[in-house]
Amino acid sequence: MEEKRPEWSSHISFIIATVGSAVGLGNIWRFPYIMGKNGGAIFLFTYLLLIAFICIIPLCCELGLGKIYKKDAINTFKTINPKYKWLGWLCIITVTLIPCFYFVVGGWILNYIWVFITGQLPDNFSLYFSSFSAQAFMPCFLTILFLIMTAIFPFRGINDGIEKANNLMMPLFAVMLFILAIFALTLPGAKEGLAFMFHPDFSRFDKTMVLTALGQALFTLSIGMGTILTYGSYMKENTKIVKSAYTLIICDTTIAILAGIMIFPIVFSFGVEPSAGAALAFISMPQMFSQFPLGVIFGLIFFALLFFASITSGISMMETTVAAFIDNFKLSRKKSTLLATVIIGLISIPASLSFGILSNFKIFDKTIFDLLDYSTSNIFLPFNTLLICLIAGWCIPNFWKKVFGESFFGGVFNILLKFIVPFVLICVLISGIY
Ligand code: PFF
Repeated sequence: MEEKRPEWSSHISFIIATVGSAVGLGNIWRFPYIMGKNGGAIFLFTYLLLIAFICIIPLCCELGLGKIYKKDAINTFKTINPKYKWLGWLCIITVTLIPCFYFVVGGWILNYIWVFITGQLPDNFSLYFSSFSAQAFMPCFLTILFLIMTAIFPFRGINDGIEKANNLMMPLFAVMLFILAIFALTLPGAKEGLAFMFHPDFSRFDKTMVLTALGQALFTLSIGMGTILTYGSYMKENTKIVKSAYTLIICDTTIAILAGIMIFPIVFSFGVEPSAGAALAFISMPQMFSQFPLGVIFGLIFFALLFFASITSGISMMETTVAAFIDNFKLSRKKSTLLATVIIGLISIPASLSFGILSNFKIFDKTIFDLLDYSTSNIFLPFNTLLICLIAGWCIPNFWKKVFGESFFGGVFNILLKFIVPFVLICVLISGIY
């Protein structure tokens, strides 16, 4: 017997869950360091423009496809035309590969939470991080632990698992972020940090920066892998798509900016390079926390923040895969979750080991971790998003009217959907490949 499709119990739960999906390591860890590397304010302004006028379109498309067809990604594209079923599979492959590296970072976060709880802080976080991540057992164990902690929620279902997790964790997350941002603003480097974020240096404007901003925007909004489509398929009938999409964008961007407001004053107060890259969260930040009184508490809050951000995103990735397994393999939710857990677990172990014993094992000159990160974010995401826009714009009659409405703005959005967004995405793809 086919199970009745679940539904979010309220509009606010739907919004919190989609914000929980969108707000993740992409906002707290990736956004500040990419912004640091790409000139600060000029990157931020470009990113805001792109997100408001370009990314809004695929975001509405995914929500619209979910709301109209009420199916998982594979069956949605199959219903539009059996020839497009493979695009659904491609989305599912992408969304199953992302947690394979994302949860490795989740495992590191668990480790740092433990370090700050026990108060046994190393003297040199740079040495500590490289020797910890290179170990064979502990990082793998923590990756699997993070995976199991995440899987519990899709296992329990939409209302009892995913909704409850998000409704609890997202408000906690927001409170912690505020506390840290306010604390950061009291530091001596606050002025310099804010100037870096909000005073544009136009000489840094170039093509690569624009493309990086767009890739980041797609990743942070969880677009191009069927996640938003799947969450949209549990939407209530009367939910407004464009309004929900803008709410999501505003929340996600506000949180990314707050993360910058939290990180840059600390970075400038301690004279660290804002472009320190991925190491910012796992080396520079904990090193700085270890240097001031109460730093242990703030460090713990910082890693708890990263934990909530990453687990709520992880839940949405797993739910997309689980929903596809339920609908396509006719498995129960529990069996589908177990299957997804085993697949992700098996791939994430070599990804974790790529910082240690597999560090010399390279494909296309990249370690397994880097390959998973690079191929999903720079190739699969823009490629899937491009096809989703093309199908929504050109293959479903009157899709734009159902999603954007028939007003003047609906018409403008339709032109963006049919011509402008595909063109921009093709540029991103070409640059991602070369
Ligand atoms: N949007 C998440 C972040 O910014 O960290 C990442 C993500 C979530 C990617 C959900 C994919 C996904 F399905």
